[in-house]
Amino acid sequence: MPITRPACVLLDECDSLRAFRDRFTLPDGVIYLDGNSLGALPKATPARMREVVEKEWGEGLIRSWNACGWIDAQRRVGEKIGRLIGAKPGETLVADSTSINLFKLLAAALKLRPGRKTILSEATNFPTDLYIAEGLIGLLGQGHRLRAVEPDDVATAIDCDTAVVMLTHVNYRTGRMWNMRQITELAQRKGALILWDLAHSAGAMPIELAALDVDLAVGCGYKYLNGGPGAPAFLYVAERLQLSASVPLSGWFGHADPFAFEPTYRPAAGIARAAAGTPPLLSLAALEVGVDVMLEAPMDEVRRKSLAQTSLFARLIEQDDFEIVSPRADELRGSQVCLRHPGAWPIMQALIARGVIGDFRAPDILRFGFTPLYLGYAEVWDAVATLRQVMASGSWRDAAYQSRSIVT
Ligand SMILES: Cc1ncc(COP(=O)(O)O)c(C=O)c1O
Repeated sequence: MPITRPACVLLDECDSLRAFRDRFTLPDGVIYLDGNSLGALPKATPARMREVVEKEWGEGLIRSWNACGWIDAQRRVGEKIGRLIGAKPGETLVADSTSINLFKLLAAALKLRPGRKTILSEATNFPTDLYIAEGLIGLLGQGHRLRAVEPDDVATAIDCDTAVVMLTHVNYRTGRMWNMRQITELAQRKGALILWDLAHSAGAMPIELAALDVDLAVGCGYKYLNGGPGAPAFLYVAERLQLSASVPLSGWFGHADPFAFEPTYRPAAGIARAAAGTPPLLSLAALEVGVDVMLEAPMDEVRRKSLAQTSLFARLIEQDDFEIVSPRADELRGSQVCLRHPGAWPIMQALIARGVIGDFRAPDILRFGFTPLYLGYAEVWDAVATLRQVMASGSWRDAAYQSRSIVT
């Protein structure tokens, strides 16, 4: 039976997460399917930013480091993110960017497995993960190697030389999701550490890092956590590893007593040693607002709605002329659906011109992210209707949609 728009409107009326839509600012006429790249603006963020800028900075000045909890912000917001990813208290810290956190934790992992020389990953991982591994290996000059294999070969490639298995839980281009339990167990059984990049899963689905005994993880603040452009990232180190893990960017914020100004480095006892320098407080304040909204949402419901929306989108699309790249099985799919088409770039530009915002991933992928807190079922239906209209009219072939921008 075809899925009708009224059926989608009914789903919206019965949606238990519906009230969250009002917590975000989105322009009229926009269907936003790119929250997996840059999350929407929480309505509470501008007022909080004004408060931090005008009161805490403008009036409090340097006093605000103590008086307004700036000095604890990395830990405090880290603890909140930790609740979203199933970490134990004291295991998560907000710091730096995801790329820098990858560098820090990969370096720590290689030191924790001194006899082993391989960082194992998948060839289709997000490039920064692979680039950072390459850069670290070059810097160390100790004969380490990056082995990046096809996803189907990862499990069998873990061997006695693997120091760390570094994977992104949900692939940025395909939306394919790893079985975190299975790969974590497999890596650890072979004596390797596991490092998960949660960029496309934190805030999109329940994650149980502590229950699965995951070693290390990193993730972004600006995607499903709605922290704003360039929001700081987070990192997780299992408590049992914290004392032995040494982080190479030994800056004063990771010192046991930063304000003692000692001439030599002494790492802080817990997760704090993973900090390097002064955090971007304004961005951290915005991130905290996004995380606070996320914490109000039952994560099981978020995942249930995400699966319902991605599967609705895929079912509506399957009659059309696109290859659906993302897995159809729920247990293999993150919160996005990707379509392959040789005209992916101009098609996406034509969609964006009509208010349906997704993104393009080279060479031929249209990527649509689903954010259950602010996306409705009828919007999913309307997005597909717009896509059909763009295809049927051939308007995507217009010259206006052909030239490439830097950010895709
Ligand atoms: C899987 C993954 N890791 C890392 C990043 C980005 O890292 P950074 O915030 O350091 O630019 C992205 C960005 O989209 C990503 O998709």
